[in-house]
Amino acid sequence: MDLSYMAEMPIEEFQQRRAKVFAQLPTNSGLIVFSNLERQRTASSNYPFRQDNYFWYLTGFNEPDAILLLKKTEQQGEQAILFLRPSDPLMETWNGRRLGIEKAPATLHLDQAIAIDEVRQQLPQLLNGLGTLYYAEEVQQWGDEIVHQTLSLMRTQQRQGVKAPTTLVCWRELLDEMRLFKSENEIRLMQQAGQISALAHIRAMKQARPQRFEYELASEMLHEFNRFGARWESYPSIIASGENACILHYTENDRLMQDGDLVLIDAGCEFAMYAGDITRTFPVNGKFSPAQREIYQIVLEAEKRAIELLVNGNSIKQANDEVLKIKVAGLVRLGILSGDVDTLIAEKAYTRFYMHSLGHWLGLDVHDVGAYGQDRTRELQPGMVVTVEPGLYIPNAEDIPAAYRGIGVRIEDDLLITEYGNKVLTAAVPKEIDEIEALMAQKD
Ligand code: GLY
Ligand code: MN
Ligand code: MN
Repeated sequence: MDLSYMAEMPIEEFQQRRAKVFAQLPTNSGLIVFSNLERQRTASSNYPFRQDNYFWYLTGFNEPDAILLLKKTEQQGEQAILFLRPSDPLMETWNGRRLGIEKAPATLHLDQAIAIDEVRQQLPQLLNGLGTLYYAEEVQQWGDEIVHQTLSLMRTQQRQGVKAPTTLVCWRELLDEMRLFKSENEIRLMQQAGQISALAHIRAMKQARPQRFEYELASEMLHEFNRFGARWESYPSIIASGENACILHYTENDRLMQDGDLVLIDAGCEFAMYAGDITRTFPVNGKFSPAQREIYQIVLEAEKRAIELLVNGNSIKQANDEVLKIKVAGLVRLGILSGDVDTLIAEKAYTRFYMHSLGHWLGLDVHDVGAYGQDRTRELQPGMVVTVEPGLYIPNAEDIPAAYRGIGVRIEDDLLITEYGNKVLTAAVPKEIDEIEALMAQKD
C-alpha cells in the first residue's frame, strides 16, 4: 500500500510556532509547557501514551516526562530548552526507545536539552531574574506541582539574591488562538483524518446487519483507521443502535442490533494527532422505515442548510438559528411539537429533542481550543475547522406519536472554512437516503 501521504508534520513547523510565540513574549520572560505522563491502566500496564496537545503543538516530541521552557532575555536572546528523559539502555530494552539528551537539540531544532531528573535544581536557576512566567494551571497536574514548588523555593531564597518571576500570565489564550487557525500542513493532515474517517463509516455501513453487536462495527472502523495509518480513534466511538441513539455520549457499544433499528455512529480517527469527527445514522437492515425517513430528512435538511451558512464571515450561531427553524417546523409537521414555530423557538421547546450545540472547533483536540464568542457568535475565518452536527432525539415517551418514539438521528461533518466558503473534509461518506441504501445493498 502506498502510504507516502503519511509524511508527518515537518519539524520546521514546530520551530515556526515557537518563533510566533517568542514574538509575542516580552523580553525577560519565560513560557513553560508540560508533556503528558504515562497513565496506569492495570497493575503492570499503561494506557497507550498520548501526548499533551499544547506540548505537541510546540515541540513535535512524543515522549512523557518532558518540559518545554521558552526563555527570552536581553543577554541570551530566545532559547528553547527541553527537559526530557535521558537515554537508558536497560530501560529502553524493556520499555522502548528514547530520543535522549544528546540527540534532542538537533532532532527537534531546540537550543538546549537537560535531563528531566535535574528539573528541581535547574528550573529555579533558569527562571531566576525573569519578570514574567507564562504558564497554564490545570493542564498537567504534575506541571502545577513543579511550578508551585519551584516558585515557592525561589521566594524563600530571596535573601540569597534569587528573584522569582513576579508576574504569572496564563498562556491559554495565546496558544488557543494560534491553534484555532490551521496551517497548510495541518489542513493536509486534517483532510486525511476526514478521509480515513469517511472510509471507516462506509465500511461500517456495508458491515451492518441485524444480530451483530454494536462493538463489531467499532472494530470494523478501527480496522479501517489502522489500514490507512491512523492508529487510534480520536475519541471513544459511539455505536448507538435503537434507543441508544438518544444517549449523546453512549459508548458501551454492547447491544445486539435488531432488524428495524437505526444505528447512529459517531466516530473518527486520529491521524498524525489530528481528529476526524463524523456521525452517520442508518438502518441496520439497509432500509429506512417511513418514520425514520421523516426524522432523518429533517436533520439532513438542517445539516445541508448549516453547511451553506458556515462560511467565512458568518457565525455558528447564525447557522444554528436557521437549523432551529428547520427542526422545529419539522417537529410541528410530524405532530411531535405543536404550536407556533417562532414561539416554540423562543420558549426553547426544542431542547427536549436537540440539546447540544451545532458545532465545535476541531483540531488536535476533538473539541478543539479557541474562543467561540458569546453564544458562538464569533465570525468564521479561513483556516478554522468546525464540525456541523445537527441532531434530533425523540424520547420514548407517552406523549410522542408512537411511530417516532426512540428515534435518534445525528449527521455530522467536518468543515474547513475557506476564503470563499467552506470545504467538507468528510464528504466521501454518503448521507442522502438513496445513497446510503444503495451502499448498504452492496454488503461486503
Ligand atoms: N464526537 C463528539 C462530538 O461530536 O462532539
Ligand atoms: Mn462526533
Ligand atoms: Mn463533534
